[in-house]
Amino acid sequence: MSDDSLPAPAPARTAAVIPAAGRGVRLGPGAPKALRTLGGTPMLIHAVRALAASRAVSLVVVVAPPEGTAEVKSLLDAHALPERTDFLVVPGGDTRQESVRLGLQALPPQYDIVLVHDAARPLVPVDTVDTVIEAVRDGAPAVVPALPLADTVKEVAPAVEPGAPEPVVATLQRARLRAVQTPQGFDRATLVSAHETVTEDVTDDASMVEQLGLTVVVVPGHEEAFKVTRPLDLVLAEAVIARRRLNDGF
Ligand code: C5P
Repeated sequence: MSDDSLPAPAPARTAAVIPAAGRGVRLGPGAPKALRTLGGTPMLIHAVRALAASRAVSLVVVVAPPEGTAEVKSLLDAHALPERTDFLVVPGGDTRQESVRLGLQALPPQYDIVLVHDAARPLVPVDTVDTVIEAVRDGAPAVVPALPLADTVKEVAPAVEPGAPEPVVATLQRARLRAVQTPQGFDRATLVSAHETVTEDVTDDASMVEQLGLTVVVVPGHEEAFKVTRPLDLVLAEAVIARRRLNDGF
């Protein structure tokens, strides 16, 4: 049989895992961060919609606080979400890494590409999501969206005593640094093997793939994909939503 007569391979299917089980203590007291509202809608719903806006994403797995799983399920039921997308809610773990691992375990077998997206980045534009997916489809085992830095970054040593100024030990070359965002995109088998192999604490999934010795590539991130971490970020997020509503003619 010639190659021409073989059916074209099925396109890779993409699922998104959204870890949303953190308390978000840096935002101050109140509801778990993912359930706080922005423009009247919970941050988590913004994040879910942002990922489901990509036509390539056919499943979104939300990893919820274990005691809040039922609440998150009813939240998803109560908000309009695209019909072409399936949704699953699973309970999370003690660390972000554990929460992602639990999300991965819930994925049905037919998904070859996995995006991992922080619920705390509710406003990522769909073009950024699609750029990440495209780079994984093109063969990269791991892809991160990232931006150049505005600030100079210095490495410090611990202060000699609590409250004393920290001594600077190095100034990193800013032009070569990138601030990494999410969604991060992965070949599914690569991410599963990274989660099975790397046990120490990490702050993003791509660094686990780096530890496997594989190449992680960077695609352009977006300033609206910022992470809502501190109280001022809430003000910025509200402003972005207000601008979008104005532009969309709401
Ligand atoms: O704490 P940080 O801002 O890095 O959290 C990033 C994301 O990981 C958030 O969306 C948070 O809800 C999630 N997370 C989680 N399970 C944890 C801790 C954090 O899903 N145990």
